[in-house]
Amino acid sequence: MSVTIDLKGKKAIVFGIANDKSIAWHIAKRLNDAGCRIAAAYQERVEQFFMPLMKELNNPVYDKCDVVSDELLDSFFKKVKDEFGEADFLIHSIAFAKKEHLQGKFMNVDRRGYQVAHEVSAYSLAELSRRAAPMMRSGGSIIAMTYLGSERVAPGYNIMGVAKAALESSVRYIAYDLGEQKIRVNAISAGPIATLAASGIANFPEMLLNYVAKAPLKRNITADEVADCALFLCSDLSKAITGQVIYVDAGYNVMGI
Ligand SMILES: NC(=O)c1ccc[n+]([C@@H]2O[C@H](COP(=O)([O-])OP(=O)(O)OC[C@H]3O[C@@H](n4cnc5c(N)ncnc54)[C@H](O)[C@@H]3O)[C@@H](O)[C@H]2O)c1
Repeated sequence: MSVTIDLKGKKAIVFGIANDKSIAWHIAKRLNDAGCRIAAAYQERVEQFFMPLMKELNNPVYDKCDVVSDELLDSFFKKVKDEFGEADFLIHSIAFAKKEHLQGKFMNVDRRGYQVAHEVSAYSLAELSRRAAPMMRSGGSIIAMTYLGSERVAPGYNIMGVAKAALESSVRYIAYDLGEQKIRVNAISAGPIATLAASGIANFPEMLLNYVAKAPLKRNITADEVADCALFLCSDLSKAITGQVIYVDAGYNVMGI
């Protein structure tokens, strides 16, 4: 059997494109190349690095947005609703924690640092799902990005690991919330990839080396490989899969030592 994934006529809302290293950049391109139209949100601070992708995509919709601003969320989703009417996919590829909380001891995190990491990295999935769901068609798919530091200790990942645990649990609850609407919700747990967000993690270079040494496939993974999995999760090939965390990590998560 030969299968081609064709997303012609489909529409995706994508959060998390900061530059050409971003996982969301590669996902948006992969979905676009399969025929899907993209509505992309960007933070003002990354505008100059975000715009080149908009020139490459086929008739994209885009606007500034920040998940901590109700005003920007309102105006972004109004624009998407006006231009798209309906949507099929929501890609949540965003996370944030203060740099000082991505090193040293986890327990030194302060209350505000704990809150901001959870607000941007976990709560936002509920917020974006709630806003997107009313315009999503049956058969739609929501995808969040996570990392193994949610379930195991990855020194330095600290508050982000705790926020990712909340994100993964949110995936399961939102999968239940939207199941009757026939919308699937999953997370991709990616191995480490050198991106802007990753550059804030103090131990990141060691994480990359560790995967080459210990993962069954003895290598790191690429953002394109994550995009392949996202394409699968947007397609009907995954129509019975929801509430899952799917690892794209060269097998690292199965190792005990
Ligand atoms: N790079 C890795 O090693 C890796 C591994 C596993 C999971 N992830 C996850 O993948 C996702 C994407 O990260 P990335 O590695 O592509 O890095 P990235 O820096 O390219 O992307 C992070 C994105 O989050 C956005 N963002 C941050 N705060 C925001 C806010 N308040 N409102 C709206 N957007 C906001 C940024 O603008 C940026 O586009 C994140 O959830 C990250 O935790 C990354």
